[in-house]
Amino acid sequence: MTRTPLIAANWKMNPVPAGALEHDSPYQSHAAVDIWVFPTFLDIRSCIDAKIITGAQSGHWEKSGAHTGDVSMAMLAKLGCRSVLCGHSERRQDYGEANDVIIEQVIAALEENLHPILCIGETEKERSSGREKDIVKAQLSSCPFEKEVTIAYEPVWAISGGDPNKPAATTADAQQMHAFIRSLLPEGIREQTRILYGGSMKPENAEDLLSQPDIDGGLVGGASLDPEKFKQIVEIASKLT
Ligand code: PGA
Repeated sequence: MTRTPLIAANWKMNPVPAGALEHDSPYQSHAAVDIWVFPTFLDIRSCIDAKIITGAQSGHWEKSGAHTGDVSMAMLAKLGCRSVLCGHSERRQDYGEANDVIIEQVIAALEENLHPILCIGETEKERSSGREKDIVKAQLSSCPFEKEVTIAYEPVWAISGGDPNKPAATTADAQQMHAFIRSLLPEGIREQTRILYGGSMKPENAEDLLSQPDIDGGLVGGASLDPEKFKQIVEIASKLT
């Protein structure tokens, strides 16, 4: 890998895994691999206090105001968050977040010096009708790349949804899409932008996925809730550097 790998733990609506806040936990910084965690809003402060690099799973683009149930990018930055997920497919599905709103989030995050991870990826139906490239292209269009943004390609059909036996995308399909995504990036940042893979990454498939030339890390859901599995994924990424 030419880019420093990033292994990001997306804990979704789950409590902090047992032992994660200990000083020697696998979620703590690592010499060769960047490790970031994305807990619920309620657990952000305890992760930051434990000196773990922490991001939020979503954020509102307005600084404050009449947005019941939301937390702004400005508030997340003030709390000490370093990153934020924008446009995770579960936000797109559950709350109808559309591409234009997601790009507003990316812009707002950058304004607050939060590093956005823009999540993109097609559904099963979109892939079976051969539209996967058009979908990710539309999801990426208007993304402001003048500051550092990370992309997470997460084919919706490969996201585990809590099923540990769900297969990930094949390495060939994943690499092909990552290379396509990279080709869409502006030339000046094409080689330095990290493109993470997400969707049932686990110790069993991490080596194959992470050894692909355009896969620079993982956005790991289910397996990130198990400290032992997460540690193994980090070790695999480290070995490949
Ligand atoms: P998964 O989730 O690893 O459980 O498939 C990834 C994600 O949704 O970010």
